Amino acid sequence: MKTFLVVSFGCQMNVYEAEKFKEVFYDFGLYEANNIEEADIVLFNSCAVRSKSEQKLLSSVGYAYSLFKKFGRPYIIVTGCVASIKEKEIKNIAKNSLISISKGYELIYDRVNELRKILSQYLSLHPQSVEKKERQVFAYVPVIFGCNNFCTYCIVPATRGREKSRPLNEIVNEVTQYVEEGVKEIVLLGQNINHYGYDFGNKNGFIELLEAVDKIPHLERLRYLTPHPALFTKELILRMKGLKTLMPHFHLPVQSGSNKILNLMRREYTREQYLSLIDIIKSEFSEASITTDIIVGFPEETEEDFLQTVSLVKTVAFDKSFIAAYSKRPNTPAANMESQIEDRVKKERLNYLLDVQNEISLKKNLSYVGGTYSVLVENVKVNIAYGRIPQDKLVIISSEKSISKAEIVPVKITDADFIHLKGEY
Ligand code: SAH
Ligand code: SF4
Ligand code: F3S
Repeated sequence: MKTFLVVSFGCQMNVYEAEKFKEVFYDFGLYEANNIEEADIVLFNSCAVRSKSEQKLLSSVGYAYSLFKKFGRPYIIVTGCVASIKEKEIKNIAKNSLISISKGYELIYDRVNELRKILSQYLSLHPQSVEKKERQVFAYVPVIFGCNNFCTYCIVPATRGREKSRPLNEIVNEVTQYVEEGVKEIVLLGQNINHYGYDFGNKNGFIELLEAVDKIPHLERLRYLTPHPALFTKELILRMKGLKTLMPHFHLPVQSGSNKILNLMRREYTREQYLSLIDIIKSEFSEASITTDIIVGFPEETEEDFLQTVSLVKTVAFDKSFIAAYSKRPNTPAANMESQIEDRVKKERLNYLLDVQNEISLKKNLSYVGGTYSVLVENVKVNIAYGRIPQDKLVIISSEKSISKAEIVPVKITDADFIHLKGEY
């Protein structure tokens, strides 16, 4: 075996895990293949959040197996959220090409060790002499695994298991190492990140974690994903104001604007509570951007319920919303609810809400035109560079000056569309 490919689906947690798996392959002297047709071994890190993401995994494994039958490669490894719930199907599809399957609720560090063990049966440790891959300007760092919330539509508690926080010193060490290697921005990760520390019996764990990471020398920017609105308190917001590296961006998944639906989803907050939270954020962090996740077409969602979501989107005026049509997931309470919504209606609501949101996003983005914002440069190509402002909006920068990756530069915003900003430096 000479080449590997890591294919990752789903959330940022999987992006982090993919990096950890890649490091193991590098340690064994394997090179990254450009595509699956050239790979000797392929690792799929899967996502099960919607049935589409699950289908994508199963058909990718099917394609890899068809190559294996013809050419005797690639060997297949499957891990992550689909592996947690569809082990049999995966084994049936991949047959004798499958050399390992590990579940998303096993800790990533255990799965990494398992990968080492598997590879050592095929190869001897043979570190590559090639230089270590250049670090990105930002890095993801998980702080809590799993979820104890059981929202009625969601597969994550089944695929990732119960909450388990990492010790604070382990997180601080990992962040410190990244920063020393040149990383400028850290994104802390957890499915319900404001539960950080609850399993140690510490209800202030999340803010204490932010405060500890904020003190790490030379860290420029701190972000986190994903907080749950039910635990996002005024006290927390006020304490956040004391953090020098925390970026002014709040991602607070609302899911629906109807109290009836929020209750059926078991979200543990009301429309009114959510809106008052937004009011506090707007008054304490007036320059912040606010983004959200929304599900349309949840069982029993009437036209009236849907219009409540539309009105909430207009009231908050989110900078961006990640909007999805409800997808039935196996063994979740919502999958057995009566009054499932027809696909056609889901699609109509999705498209309608996307139009509403895009118009708001455009207005929001245009309001940045004329202002100057500090941009962390992520990439540079000849005369074009791009990066993000503190509010997490992507800016395409044109510049006559020399500009390099990982620099933070002041950029004057000159134009915008509903997706990004354009600016000059
Ligand atoms: N832990 C985070 C994110 C969970 S998954 C949270 O609590 O918000 C990311 C997003 O996928 C969710 O916010 C939700 O909007 C969407 N999602 C989850 N399950 C879904 C389903 N069954 N159908 C459609 N969208 C879903
Ligand atoms: Fe899923 Fe809810 Fe947990 Fe988020 S908080 S991962 S939506 S169960
Ligand atoms: Fe998908 Fe699992 Fe993440 S279901 S969104 S990869 S936690």
